[in-house]
Amino acid sequence: MSGFGNEFATEAIKGALPQGRNSPQRPAFGLYPEQISGSAFTAPRDRNLRSWMYRILPSVRHGAYQPWEHPSDLSATAHQPVSPQQERWNPPPMPKHDCHWLGSLKRMALNGSAAARQGASIYVYAANASMDECFFQSADGEWLIIPQEGGLVIVTELGKLDIDPGFIAIIPRGIRFQVNLASSTARGYACENWGAPFRLPDLGPIGSNGLANPRDFEYPVASYIDKPGSYQLVSKLLDAYWVCELPTHPMNVVAWHGNYAPYRYHLKRFNTINTVSFDHPDPSIFTVLTSPTDNPGTANLDFVIFPERWMVAEDSFRPPWFHRNVMSEFMGLIEGTYDAKGDGFSPGCSSLHNCMSAHGPDAHSVEVASAAVLEPHKQTGTLAFMLESSLVFQPTDFALHGGLRQSDYLACWQSLQSRFRGSAAT
Ligand code: FE2
Repeated sequence: MSGFGNEFATEAIKGALPQGRNSPQRPAFGLYPEQISGSAFTAPRDRNLRSWMYRILPSVRHGAYQPWEHPSDLSATAHQPVSPQQERWNPPPMPKHDCHWLGSLKRMALNGSAAARQGASIYVYAANASMDECFFQSADGEWLIIPQEGGLVIVTELGKLDIDPGFIAIIPRGIRFQVNLASSTARGYACENWGAPFRLPDLGPIGSNGLANPRDFEYPVASYIDKPGSYQLVSKLLDAYWVCELPTHPMNVVAWHGNYAPYRYHLKRFNTINTVSFDHPDPSIFTVLTSPTDNPGTANLDFVIFPERWMVAEDSFRPPWFHRNVMSEFMGLIEGTYDAKGDGFSPGCSSLHNCMSAHGPDAHSVEVASAAVLEPHKQTGTLAFMLESSLVFQPTDFALHGGLRQSDYLACWQSLQSRFRGSAAT
């Protein structure tokens, strides 16, 4: 089903979805009605998020929670004090033993706090097994999943989402899901957004179309698995992990309606806007989704992409300029090369440029772009992304000491020399 934030209605068995009311006395097929709220009941109508599910068993049918013995890299803590050093990391290697998506997540950076419901937590993953009997829900925030290598089959309470590299998926806070592999291995990035749920950015003078168009966001239809057994549910709350037993497959929702549901988006559908005159515009023109704060125009988290696009700017240095930003920037590369960086930033790599930490194109990119003939040029086979936040990202101990860090990142700027040709004023 398509359309960002629509009111959807879907049933896997005809007649399973009640008509005219949410909670009839005797629902069809003996199903249990259950609501999931993604906003306060009294949130303004345009921000109100909730869905009604009609399930074989209510989701409360589970055993007692116990602490979940999880891999330590999943909840790696921020290294203190936070250095202003620019950082870059190699892709995570594939695991040597069976490891599913949840178990393979390695936390790279975080900001804000899950308890305060602001900020985010950023991960990389490299998995070689499906989650099978294991499911996950997070009360802390919504999950943005960005595959870089290998397709994923995301099984959720409300239906299935298939995502290959080039797609993203969003799983709203609290929705139960599992991530299975469509091929033998999978690698990518994930982010738990602790702030306001992602929405489409306002378009201002761009008008009523452009960037990510609402109709291109896709939601699953209801489908269910009626399979009693012994399933594990891992629950995340206030950044801690718990586990309990489920007596039946959690994907037992036969019908649902509402506007609170997982979705996917193909980044190739992004309508990229760029200069047709001069200069390199601010990267905000590449915003796919934004998690706003109460401070207008200042995001808790923006998800931004740098896709294939024509470069036509005249008399301009075309790559990103040197800058220092009050916002903090975590980047990743899904495909190809990024126009401001060379070999050190290959697909699967990550980088971090925190608040006011200087960054920009590496010395080689400056040399090439400064001498380039400024004909129209199409950047092809490239897809980078950025998670940009008004809060400083704190790299974890894993990020700094877990073996992925490129200790020589700063070297990419060290051959920049003064090219000043002025003479003394007197
Ligand atoms: Fe930047």
